[in-house]
Amino acid sequence: MADAPEKKVILSGIQPTGTFTLGNYIGAVRNWGPLQEQYRCLYFIADQHAITVRIEPAQLRQKTLEAYAQLLACGIDLDKSLVFIQSHIPTHSQLAWVLNCSTQFGELSRMTQFKDKSRKHPDDINAGLFDYPVLMAADILIYQADLVPVGIDQMQHLELARNIANRFNGRYGETLKVPEGYMPPIGAKVMSLQDPTKKMSKSDTNPNAVILILDDKDTIIRKFKRAVTDSEMEIVYREGKDGINNLLTIYSVVTGKSIDDAVREFDGKGYGDFKLAVGEAVADHLEPVRSEYARLIQDKAYLKECYTRCAGEALKMSYRTLNKVYKKVGFVPTELR
Ligand code: AMP
Ligand code: TRP
Repeated sequence: MADAPEKKVILSGIQPTGTFTLGNYIGAVRNWGPLQEQYRCLYFIADQHAITVRIEPAQLRQKTLEAYAQLLACGIDLDKSLVFIQSHIPTHSQLAWVLNCSTQFGELSRMTQFKDKSRKHPDDINAGLFDYPVLMAADILIYQADLVPVGIDQMQHLELARNIANRFNGRYGETLKVPEGYMPPIGAKVMSLQDPTKKMSKSDTNPNAVILILDDKDTIIRKFKRAVTDSEMEIVYREGKDGINNLLTIYSVVTGKSIDDAVREFDGKGYGDFKLAVGEAVADHLEPVRSEYARLIQDKAYLKECYTRCAGEALKMSYRTLNKVYKKVGFVPTELR
């Protein structure tokens, strides 16, 4: 019998900079669980990316573990996927160095996230912040990933990773797989509840703008009740109705109903009833995530066993690419790896 074809590789990362928002969940993490049936999935906590802005060491440690437990609580199954911590796998940064030498200063200068973050932290425009997309490219290319599920805000970085891979292959011969992006068909950009023209972000200073996946039911409902909408009265999905569009999108994702069905369901109802219904649906949907998280975060020994085993397997996979790359660029081979 012929060997079964190897499963395609999916890879994604998330920064441990705070509790995941409903945006992270809908735009990214929620979609990762169902993918593990069809693909070889690798997911990791990008702690090395997190130090490109200042973060207290104790906080980083704590948040990394919390993020790890949140990923497991969101339905990622370690029998099917590897979930690990970026800094446990030294090969990502080793490949990043080589890729730096196939990346132009000009292209990194054009990254909108670099420009945004430089504006936000004018006193700490460090080289890591500038080089961040190259490490991200290495994260992806070291596993020869086929697909990278991310929200819209990371698409520019993914495009850069593709360009770097193509350039490397052009210079040294076919070595790195050129990955494709994978955006969720709906919910690739969940908007702030207080300013629906802006994306919902962990770093928003207004807590009412953001739903955290670990918020309790009352908090979730209260935040939705205060959601900014518009001065009309119609619950329809239409250009210009950013607030309502966002609520309809969220409702559709957490209930599994189409937007059209949701619009029909709320036909003739007021914004107050609608917001309450969205709040309740989100709270009910997130309840199992919250209780599973509460259980996992108590069990540090189990978490350690999981991230250690996964890192071991990921490291092995990653060496295959690193060794190829080192050979292609002309580094003298060593028995040490
Ligand atoms: P970050 O919080 O920036 O580390 O993002 C982690 C993942 O969540 C990335 O794939 C982002 O594209 C995605 N993401 C973050 N915020 C949102 C949002 N408001 N809507 C949809 N996806 C998001
Ligand atoms: N840069 C991503 C973010 O801030 C996180 C990330 C790091 C990532 N490396 C990655 C995402 C590789 C996908 C693939 O959201």
